[in-house]
This record gives sequence, structure tokens and C-alpha cells, in this order.
Amino acid sequence: MNKLLIEGGQPLIGELHAAGAKNAVLPILAATLLADEPVTLSNVPQLRDVTTSRALLERLGAQVTLHEPMTLEVDTRSVDKFCAPYDLVKTMRASILVLGPLLARYGYAEVSLPGGCAIGSRPVDQHLRGLRAMGAEIEVDAGYIRACCSGRLRGARLVLDLVTVTGTANVLMAATLAEGTTVIENAAREPEVVDLGDCLVAMGADITGLGTDTVVVRGVPRLHGTHYPVMPDRIETGTYLVAAAITHGQITIHGTRPACLDAVLLKLQEAGAQIDTGSDWIHLDMQGRRPQAVHLRTAPHPGFPTDMQAQFVALNAIAAGVGTITETVFENRFMHVNELQRMGALIRLEGNTAISTGVAQLTGAPVMATDLRASAGLVLAALAARGTTVVDRVYHIDRGYQGIEQRLTQLGASVRRITG
Ligand code: EPZ
Repeated sequence: MNKLLIEGGQPLIGELHAAGAKNAVLPILAATLLADEPVTLSNVPQLRDVTTSRALLERLGAQVTLHEPMTLEVDTRSVDKFCAPYDLVKTMRASILVLGPLLARYGYAEVSLPGGCAIGSRPVDQHLRGLRAMGAEIEVDAGYIRACCSGRLRGARLVLDLVTVTGTANVLMAATLAEGTTVIENAAREPEVVDLGDCLVAMGADITGLGTDTVVVRGVPRLHGTHYPVMPDRIETGTYLVAAAITHGQITIHGTRPACLDAVLLKLQEAGAQIDTGSDWIHLDMQGRRPQAVHLRTAPHPGFPTDMQAQFVALNAIAAGVGTITETVFENRFMHVNELQRMGALIRLEGNTAISTGVAQLTGAPVMATDLRASAGLVLAALAARGTTVVDRVYHIDRGYQGIEQRLTQLGASVRRITG
């Protein structure tokens, strides 16, 4: 069942409840390796990447227990292996997130070097540079990162060469158990990094500056267990908001955090959407109108999130006017453009900018997903297109969107999963 068959043309109307954030729960699951007591996480999304993370923790010897559909308890007191093998890392690059915690808690880690992926080469040099500055001895050989440190890591002043989300997460987690104080400058400010930091503080870490570009961590001897609710997924929320906008519909998303989506909400308003928000809900209404094309540039938080870029390329494809979208974070994140052109989109790429002249309607076609957010963009285009679209390799989308066909059907879309 690796394809989605979508009959487009209906406006999406309805409500849904946001799932837990993939890019928060992945580092938080890795952080459980730092605690010498069980950690219980609630609002855990049901995603392939979470399943992979569970498998990785169990491969290390941890006990992972599912209490309810979305509550996981992780007990790492039985961890007795320290290697994240290629067969798991190749399915999920975020496995690199166990490097810092294993090193900080056990003094040793062996992690398969995550290769590149469809959107770019995605090196991890900043992760290694930061951990080396904290006293780790690291070699990269035969596709594996081997790291060790005698005794505890040492606090250090780090200035990251560029803003890296998981790079910040890795050194942040390692610093919690280091001897002394670590200052991370040019730190990522993404809400998911803040959520990781808040979970670490709940486990007894001493961290200040979360959400700013300078995070200060005073090392402590141990971290204890906690019960922590994972933050809602802002990218899932943004994706469903665009699903309503691209089909001229209306949607209310509950259990979300509008404050994490300022850049996206502003662009949706520029596109002509009527947006209302509360503390934990967002309502979008297109009032039946066709969106206006928008111009945007992706950037680290609080800038426009690169993980919403493909969704807005799809929106611009049917919007009125000419829109330009510039991708500044990854070097190859326009794989969805070729597929959208096959659906009739008028888009041309000039360097890292997609310039589109909106068409009144796209035409359904067989298309191929290449990465998680590109596949989301293709699904959105299919919802707006006239006729039938079959999105292939939909396992990409299952990594980051819980029950996508059920949620879209609940909003009035015609979507079903097929084999073939
Ligand atoms: C995280 O990836 C997210 N993944 C990505 O979401 C997201 O697109 C990205 O941050 C940017 O927001 C998770 O959190 C699991 P980066 P990450 O390190 O940490 C370069 C999704 O769709 N770089 O912030 O891997 C890198 O090549 C995924 O949910 C180095 O050069 O991204 C990129 O150009 C896709 N050296 C830029 O920095 C390094 O050591 C930003 O990458 C690290 C990164």
C-alpha cells in the first residue's frame, strides 16, 4: 500500500487535532539515554520515524513500553550496546541524535555516518566539531563515527559555523552531563529545540537561553526521569492550513501552537486567507476565494521554515499572479517542482528560487514522492487538481504525517491508499 489515489477539486472544510511534533519527539527520544530513571512521553505521534527510533533504542538495550496509543515509556537503565547501525541510520538520518547522549552518559558511541538524502548532502561536521570541543575523541572510518571520552565531557564555549537544528540538539544534550559550563553560540532557535531543552530541564538539566541564539548549559552529575508532553507539530499544522487554502476551503486546527507559526500565518494572510487564532487553535477561511501568489525566502527560525517550502510552492502553483520562493537552507529542495510541472504548474527554477505563474487549475497525474515535505506538496496539489492523482512512494509521507488519508478524508477530501 505505497500509493495515495486522490480525486481533487473539493474544498477542504472541517476541524482536526494536531499530532505531536516529529522533530521534537525524535531528539527527546534520544535524550532518554541521558536519564538513569524511566522517562514517559505523551502526545507521541504515530509515525514511521518514531517506530524507527523505538527500534534503535531497543537495539541499544533500552526497554520501550507503549502505554496508550500516544504514550511511550523509555527505560534506558538496561542499555548495554552503544552502536547505531547502518541498517537503521540509512532509514532515518535523525539517528545521529543518539551520538551526544551515548557519549555523555556512557563515554562511547558508534553511529553510522548518515549519508546525504534527496534534499542535500547534509553533513554532520558541526555535530562532531562541537563534541570534539567538549573533549570527545572522534574518528570517522568505514562509514562509521566512533566517539569516546575518558571520564566526563568538559564544558566548552562553542560557536557553531552555521545554524543547525540537530547539531544544536546533539551538543545541547551532551552538555547536560558535562563537567562545567557550555555556551552554545549561533544555536538553533527552532521551537523543537526549545521543546527538547524544556524536556531536559524537566529531567534535571540546568539550561538557560533556550529559543535564543546563545544557550548556556551548566553540567550536572545525572538526569532523572520525568513525564513530558511532546509539543504539537507546527509543520503538520502548517501543511493542513495550506490544504484548506489551496482548495479554497476552511479549517480549524486544535491543540496546536500559533505562536510557533508566525511566519507561515503571515504568508497565508498575504495569500488572502482569513486567519483567527487562540492560545491553542488556528482557524483559516479562504471564503471560497482563490489564493493570491506570495513571495518568500526560507530561513532558520523565526524565519519562514524550509519544511513548509514545498507546500507553498504548491499553493503558488494555483494562486493568482506570479510568486517567488527562495530556498536558503538546503541545496536541493525543489524535487517537487518537476512533478508539479507534470500536473500543469508553470514554474521555472532560477538557482535556488522557484518562480511560478499561477494557473487556475492543475490536472491530476501520476507523480513520484522523493522526500517527506516534497510528497506533502504533491498531495496538496492533488487535492486542488482536476481529476485523479496517484502519488507513488508514499512511505516518505508516512515518516512525518500521522494517518494522512484519514485526516484528509475527515476534511472532505477523496483520498485512499492503494498498492500497485
Ligand atoms: C532538521 O534537520 C529537521 N529534521 C529537518 O526536517 C529540517 O528541514 C531542518 O532541521 C532545518 O530546519 C529534524 O529535526 C529531525 P540542519 P537537520 O542541521 O538538523 C547544513 C523534515 O522534513 N549542516 O539544521 O539535519 C545542512 O546541510 C526534516 O522534517 C552542515 O553543513 O538540518 C543544511 O544545509 C527535513 N553541517 C543546513 O546546515 C552540519 O553539521 C541546516 O541543516 C549540520 C548541518
